Amino acid sequence: MEYLDLIPATNGYGIWAVVAPLLLLLWFIVGMNRSHKYSTKLPPGTFGLPIIGESLEFLNHINGDHMHDFVGKRKERYGNIFRSHIFGKPYLFVMGQKAAKMMIQGDGDQFQVYQFHNVNKLLGRGSVILASGEDHKRIRHSTSDIFTPEGLRQYVLLIEGVTLQSIMSSWTVGKLLNAEEEATKYAFYITAELVLSWKPGPLVDEFIQLSKDLMMGMLRAPINLPGFSYHNSIKARQRMVSIFEQEINRREMEGGRGEKKGDILERMLDVHREGNGEKLSKLEIVDQLVTFILAGHETTVGTISFIVRYLSQRPQCLETLRAEHQEIQRSKPPNTPLTWMDVKRMVYTDKVISEALRMATIVPWLHRKVNEDMDFEGYTIPKGWMIILDIRDTHYDPDYYSNPDVFTPERFDQAPKPYTFLPFSGGKKICLGKDLARLEMAIFLYHLTINFRWEVEEVAKGIEFLGMARPKGGVPFRVLEKKLHELNV
Ligand code: HEM
Repeated sequence: MEYLDLIPATNGYGIWAVVAPLLLLLWFIVGMNRSHKYSTKLPPGTFGLPIIGESLEFLNHINGDHMHDFVGKRKERYGNIFRSHIFGKPYLFVMGQKAAKMMIQGDGDQFQVYQFHNVNKLLGRGSVILASGEDHKRIRHSTSDIFTPEGLRQYVLLIEGVTLQSIMSSWTVGKLLNAEEEATKYAFYITAELVLSWKPGPLVDEFIQLSKDLMMGMLRAPINLPGFSYHNSIKARQRMVSIFEQEINRREMEGGRGEKKGDILERMLDVHREGNGEKLSKLEIVDQLVTFILAGHETTVGTISFIVRYLSQRPQCLETLRAEHQEIQRSKPPNTPLTWMDVKRMVYTDKVISEALRMATIVPWLHRKVNEDMDFEGYTIPKGWMIILDIRDTHYDPDYYSNPDVFTPERFDQAPKPYTFLPFSGGKKICLGKDLARLEMAIFLYHLTINFRWEVEEVAKGIEFLGMARPKGGVPFRVLEKKLHELNV
């Protein structure tokens, strides 16, 4: 059959069936070349298929239990820096200490924050996570003192109260629990109290479900139609926003005259009032509430769940941890609450948490956009490209961490090399809640070890990635012994 036989002779549109794809291909090739006057110096890699690039493979990998394969396969082929093309944009993936230093030092200057479409829509454009430059400084500053060690001291009692009264008091011997479910309630109750003074109850339970729904669509196809995850996420955000608006309106009606709550929303409303709306707009406040609710619990939940799994795999670490906690318990008058100074004495606990943060790397990537052409490792990084720093790869690089797959808290006897330990990112955008997260995890671990003996009953292993890394199956564990004593908290 002749090639031209494929074109129906009588149909005027037939010619377009052939010409249109050719034009599209031409447009793509011209586009690629235009973006790459520098082609000789571009990093290795491939832009993949016309138009869609490597988007399908990327989506397929990141929504499941093999998210690291996308980078892993390409790293094997191209090394620590390679290019790709995802969701219509040229991308650069980088890893290692040098790349991390470049990105963290250049944050806000050579690089600006960039997130996938869904993340922008679901967090809201006023979120501190999405802000750069002066806006970022202003928004971050409005609540930053709450998250300093000085600001957090006052929450030790509250956090211990949630640990014991709302979570562990209901654990009974023989009961099969799930670390992820328990940690979700735990981290959520604390966040809800800190941010909005909400107590456990139906509203908080509804928010736990809304957060799950919202997270599910973070990295799915952005199709806002019934039946698609992204659609459910949008609806979850809308519901959250409407409840937050009601809460803000209620407090506004009181005009700051109501009972002082001392929570994060009150702080933001004070900033809003003092600045006549210029310092923090209501829209920004709502987006901050969504951000705190999500960032404040999703990450901590994942890390606590992984810690339970890791400790069950390394009984010796669990015993060392328990010994440290028993020592602290013995040094205190009986049945007295933990203090900030007690937590500061938990040196081994801190190493356990660091090692879990390294191995779990709940937030595996830093995502930015390149502001100006620059050189790195002999390659040109063109302005306008997206860049992803793969932190997880650095956390598993044997050059920085020997036997990286083995949970070894003692490796933190020495400080890690600069720019090789980045579970909370670094520089200007370093996680605002990092000390709070460590505090929550330390108190949870303290009571988990001194008051309980337990064993993990794992069916599934591995990692699941739904916007953030989670242990697959959520880590089921059974309580074998309980010694919970009465505390006046
Ligand atoms: C284990 C727990 C946590 C981990 C691993 C974690 C990780 C991170 C990372 C990697 C970033 C930087 C993202 C980027 O640069 O693009 C970040 C930012 C942030 N985190 Fe966390 N986080 C945790 C807990 C928390 C908690 C408890 C809160 C607060 C309630 C929180 C609030 C934030 C906020 C507000 C930002 C944005 C900071 C900014 O852009 O200035 N995080 N977190």
